[in-house]
Amino acid sequence: MKRPIIGILTWREGKKFAEPAYFRRLLRAGQELGSTVFLFSPKDVLASGKQVRGYVLDAGGKFQGRIFDRPDAVFDRYRYTPTQAFKDYVAFRRTSHFLYANNRLANKWRVHDVLQRDTRMHRWLPETWLYNRTNLVKMLGRHSLLYVKPLNGTGGRNILSIEKTSDGYRLLGRDKQRAKVATVLKQVSSVHRWVDRWTRSEKYIVQQGLRLQLVPARAVDMRLLIQKDGQGDWRITGHGIRVGGERSATSNLHGGGKAIPVTTFLQPRFGAERSAQIVEDCEQLAFQTAETLENHFGRMVEFGLDIGIDVNGRAWLIEVNPKPAREIFREMGAVQQYKQAISRPLEYAMYLAKTRGQDSRETRLSAKAANR
Ligand SMILES: Nc1ncnc2c1ncn2[C@@H]1O[C@H](COP(=O)(O)OP(=O)(O)O)[C@@H](O)[C@H]1O
Ligand SMILES: [Mg+2]
Repeated sequence: MKRPIIGILTWREGKKFAEPAYFRRLLRAGQELGSTVFLFSPKDVLASGKQVRGYVLDAGGKFQGRIFDRPDAVFDRYRYTPTQAFKDYVAFRRTSHFLYANNRLANKWRVHDVLQRDTRMHRWLPETWLYNRTNLVKMLGRHSLLYVKPLNGTGGRNILSIEKTSDGYRLLGRDKQRAKVATVLKQVSSVHRWVDRWTRSEKYIVQQGLRLQLVPARAVDMRLLIQKDGQGDWRITGHGIRVGGERSATSNLHGGGKAIPVTTFLQPRFGAERSAQIVEDCEQLAFQTAETLENHFGRMVEFGLDIGIDVNGRAWLIEVNPKPAREIFREMGAVQQYKQAISRPLEYAMYLAKTRGQDSRETRLSAKAANR
C-alpha cells in the first residue's frame, strides 16, 4: 500500500502556527511511523480540491510549505478562539469532505446534556444546569458549594466558585486574564447581583461544587487521556494529578497547577487498595464517556478528561476536552506515555486511511455523524 497521507488541520498565519512545539513533535512522530504528515489550515485547500498546501519541517527544523495530494485522513486540531478565523474553520468543517479522524464536540452544557441521557453516566456527573437567576437560587438551596463556568471557556478562565459559609458567601474566581478574584458577600441578594454581572457577556452553567481539597486550601483533580490506537480501539494512555495553586478555585496547569503521578498522590491518602479502586473507577468513567460521546457526535480520536476526586475518594467528571494538551506527562517525566500521547492519534488516522473508514465499527460511526 502507498504511504498514507495524514493532514493536521489547524490555525496558521504565514508560517506562524497555533501550537508550534507540539506540531514539531507530531511531524517527527509521523516520520517515525512511516506516514506523510503535514499541517494545513482551511485556506490551504487548492481550488481543485485535489491538492493541499501542506507544511512540514525542513532540514533546519523550520516550517516549510509545499503542495501535497489530498490527505487520506485528517486529524482536526483546530482549537477554539473567539475570532472570525474560527468561524471560517467551522464553515470549512461543514463543507469539506475529508475522512476526519475526529468530529467537533459541543459546548460544556450540550456535552453534559448528552452524557446525562445515558443512565450509566449518572453516578459520575455533578448536578449541572444552564445558568440563570432561577437555577442559581435552586442550586444555592441544594449545595453548599457551586461553580459557575462559561459554556465555551477553557484554561480556567471566567470560572467562579460560590461557597456558603456561616456568615454569608465566599466567592472565588479567575477572570478573563486568569487573575484571581475574591470577595465575601453577606446577603444572598448581593450574590445574585454579583453573579449576574459576572455572567453578563456570555452563557454559563451552574454546577454542583465538588470538595476536592485533598490538599488543604488547594483544588486537586485528575487529568486522564483516553485515545484511539492503531486498531481503532479506545485506550487509556495515562493520567496524572494536578494540584492547583494556593487558594485558587482551579487546578489548571496554566493557572499555576503542579502535576504528580496518580499513585504517588493517592496511596498515602487512601491506601493501596482504595487507590486502585479509585483509578479503576476513573478508567471506567473514561471508557463510558468516550463511548457515549462518540455514539452521539460521531467518530472521535481522543479526549482529555478532567476528573474530580473528592475528599471521600469518589470520582466525578468535571470536563471533557476534545483537543487536549498532553504536557502533563512531560511534566511528570512520563516519557513513554508522552510519546504515545503524541503518536496515537496519528496511528489511528493511519488505520482510518488504510481501512478508508470501511471497517464495520468505522462505518457505524460515520453513519452516526452524517445523521446528526
Ligand atoms: N464543579 C466543580 N467542583 C470543584 N471544582 C471544579 C468544578 N468545576 C471546575 N472546577 C475546578 O476548575 C477547573 C477548571 O474547570 P473546567 O470545567 O475544567 O474548565 P476549563 O475549561 O476552564 O478548564 C477544574 O480543573 C477544577 O479544578
Ligand atoms: Mg478543564
